[in-house]
Amino acid sequence: MKKMYFLYIGLLCLGMWGCSNRKSVLDSTEIDSKVVKLVNQMTLDEKIGQMRQINALGGVPENLKAALQEGEIGSILNEVDVNTVNEIQKIALEESRLGIPLLIGRDVIHGFKTIFPIPLGLAATWNPEMVKEGARIAAQEAWSSGVNWTFAPMLDVSRDARWGRIAESFGEDPYLVSVMGAAMINGFQGDDLSSDGSIVACAKHFAGYGVAEGGRDYNTTLIPQRELRDVYLPPFKAAVDANVRTFMAGFNDIDGIPATANKFLFRQVLRKEWLFTGFVVSDWASPYELINHGIAANEKEAALQAISAGVNMEMTSTTYKQSIKLLLDEGLITMDMVNRAVQEILRVKFELGLFENPYVSKEKQNQFAKQEYLHSAKQAAVESIVLLKNEKSTLPLDKSIENIALIGPLANEMYEQLGTWIFDGDSSLTVTPYAALKDYLGESKVNYAAGLIASRTKTKEGFSKAIKMAEKSDVIIFCGGEESILSGEAHSRSTLNLPGAQEQLIKELQKTGKPLVLLVLAGRPLTIGEVSKSADAVLYAWHPGTMGGAALVDILFGEENPSAKLPVTFPKGVGQIPMYYNHKNSGRPFDPTGWVQMDDIPVKASQTSLGNTSHYIDAGFEPLYPFGYGLSYTQFEYSQLKLSKVKYSINDTLKVTFSLKNVGDYKGTEVTQLYVRDLVGNVTRPVKELKGFKRVELNVGEIKEVSFHIPVSHFSFHNKNMEEVVEPGGFTVWVGGDSNATLSEAFAVE
Ligand code: GLC
Repeated sequence: MKKMYFLYIGLLCLGMWGCSNRKSVLDSTEIDSKVVKLVNQMTLDEKIGQMRQINALGGVPENLKAALQEGEIGSILNEVDVNTVNEIQKIALEESRLGIPLLIGRDVIHGFKTIFPIPLGLAATWNPEMVKEGARIAAQEAWSSGVNWTFAPMLDVSRDARWGRIAESFGEDPYLVSVMGAAMINGFQGDDLSSDGSIVACAKHFAGYGVAEGGRDYNTTLIPQRELRDVYLPPFKAAVDANVRTFMAGFNDIDGIPATANKFLFRQVLRKEWLFTGFVVSDWASPYELINHGIAANEKEAALQAISAGVNMEMTSTTYKQSIKLLLDEGLITMDMVNRAVQEILRVKFELGLFENPYVSKEKQNQFAKQEYLHSAKQAAVESIVLLKNEKSTLPLDKSIENIALIGPLANEMYEQLGTWIFDGDSSLTVTPYAALKDYLGESKVNYAAGLIASRTKTKEGFSKAIKMAEKSDVIIFCGGEESILSGEAHSRSTLNLPGAQEQLIKELQKTGKPLVLLVLAGRPLTIGEVSKSADAVLYAWHPGTMGGAALVDILFGEENPSAKLPVTFPKGVGQIPMYYNHKNSGRPFDPTGWVQMDDIPVKASQTSLGNTSHYIDAGFEPLYPFGYGLSYTQFEYSQLKLSKVKYSINDTLKVTFSLKNVGDYKGTEVTQLYVRDLVGNVTRPVKELKGFKRVELNVGEIKEVSFHIPVSHFSFHNKNMEEVVEPGGFTVWVGGDSNATLSEAFAVE
C-alpha cells in the first residue's frame, strides 16, 4: 500500500473569531469585545435588521428613513450617489437607537467609472499585479461614490463558453483563477480595510455556479465532491487566505442541494475547515428562490434552510424579515445562530472603520477617471489582447500606411467595448479603435464604415459601401464580435459564431485581396476557426474597457508587443464543449496520428477501422486554440530545463530552471508557464496542471535563466477516501508558452 502524505493545513487561531492576517484600526480582540457588547444591547428586530440587505430606492423616501431609524436595514445595494449615502449613514448613526452604519454594496467587477478589460481579459494578462492595480483604482473610484462593499471577485472556474458569465470569470484553471482572485481582493481591500479607498471584497459564487448544465445560466450542477474540492473550491480557499471578508452564495444547486441551503459548503468547508471569519450574503433573492428550486414549500422553510446553512445576510428578498421570529418561537433555530450571524456582519463593519468614519467628506467625493487611472486601464488592455494569428508578418502595421479601411460594427461603439457588468462605467471616456486610429494616423488616412449597424445585424445594406472602401485601401481592419449584452448574467448562447452577418461581410472583404486584420471584441471564446481563415492576422481583445481602442492601435502598429495568453480553451465548435486542457486521459486517449477526418472516411469503412480513441470524427480532439496560447511579434526559445533533484520528499520544494531566449526581431514579454502531471494516482489525474507562471521581458537576442520554486505539497489531490494527499510516484514537469508545452523532465516524489 503506498504511503500517503496527509496535508493538515490548519490555522491555529486565537480569540473567539480566529485570526486574520490584516492590519486594521482595531485589533481583533478589541473588535470582538465591541461586537459582543453591541449585540448584547440589540433587540431581536435590530438583529434581524442587520441580516437584511435592500435594493436602493433612489434618494431617501420616508419609508426608507423610517426603516433606518428603526434599525431594520443592515445594508443597501446599488446606491451610488455619495450625498444620498452620507444622508443614509447619518440617519442610521444619529437617528437610530444604536447608531449602526450600513454596508453599501455594488457590483464593481472590472472598474467603476474607468473600466478595465472584463475579468476574462484581465486573466489573459497573467499579471496579478496589474489585476491588483485595477481593483485598487476601482475601489478608489467606488469608495469616493459612497460604495464600501463590492460583489467581486467572481471566482467560478469556467469551462463552458456558452455560459454568459464566463466573461466575469478568470477562466478555466483553478490555479490561475486563485492567483487572480487573491490579487483582486488585495486590490479592493488594500493593506488596511479601514483606510480611505478600501472596500470589502466578496468571493462569489460559492460554489460551482459555472458548472451549469449545458452552459445555461442558473441551471442545475452535478459536481462530485472530489471535483469540487480539486477544481472549484481552491480559488475560494485562496480568497480566504487573502483575507476576503465576505462570501456570496451561488444560485445553483449542487447534486440537488442549492448553494444557498448548503451546510456542507458553508458550515463544513468554509467555517470548520477554512476558519473563515467574515460573513456570507445570499445572491439576489436566492433564499426566496429555494421555493422555485422545490426544496422549500414557503418563505419560512426557505429562511430556515438558508439560515441553517450559514447565510448571514439576505439580499433583497424578505424571508428572514418575515420568518426569523417564527423560527425562533418554534425552536427551529436558536438565538445563538442569530447572534452569530449578526456578530459576523458587525465584525466586518468594525473592520471597515465604519463606526468611526461612516461618511465620504466633500473633498474626497467623486474622484473619477484620473489620468493615472486611464493609463493603467490602457496598460491592462494592452496586456489582455491576445495575438492568435499573424501570417506573412501582417502585424505590426507600418506607420507610413496611407489608407486604412476600418470596418465592422464594434469599431466605434463607446458603450459596447466596455463589456458586461459596467453599471457605473462612463462610456463618454471610451477611446474606440476608430478614435484611436484617427489620433494615431490622422483622420485622412482612416476610412470607416460599420458595414453592419450592430453586431447582430443580419441585413447587408451596408456591405457595398464597406467593400468599395476596402477595395481602395492598403489594409482592412475588421472590428467585430459580440456587443456587450450578448454576454454576462443570464446571457448564455447555444452557438458561438460571430453574430449577425459579420462572417459573410468578412468573407466578402477577403475577396478584395487586401491584407485583412480581424479584431474580435467578445465576452467569451467564440468559434472563429472558419472566419479566421479569411484573415491574415487575428487579435482577440475580449471587451477591453475604456482604453481598448488606444491599446489596440498601439498593438496594431507595434508600439506594444502583445504578451497575452488565453485563460480559457477555444473550442473548434460548440459541440466540443466542455473542453479544457487539464482533462483526464481516459482509457483510450486520442492518438493524433490516428484521426481520419469525417469527410475522408472511406465509404463502407469497417466498424473498427478508425481506431477506438476519444475524439470527434468531425472535429478531432484538439481545440482551436489551447489554454495558455498567445503569439508575440517575436519568438521565444525554451531550453536547458533542469530540476534541482530527481527525487523529492513531501516537504521538499521543486526547483526548476530553464533558459529563455528571444530569437525574434522585437523586444517582448513571454508568459512562461509550468505544468505538472502526476503519472499514477489513487484516482485518475489530469494530463496537465498549471502550477506556476512568470512574465519574462527579453530584448532581442537576450537570454535569461528562469526559475520556479514549487512546494511538492502543491501536487495534492483528494484520493478515494476524500483525503487530501500527495502520493509518492512518478511526475512530469513541462515548461513552455502554452498548455501544449513539450520541454519536459521527469521527477519522483518518495
Ligand atoms: C446578481 C448576481 C450577483 C450580483 C448580485 C447583485 O444576480 O448573480 O453576482 O452580485 O445579483 O447585483
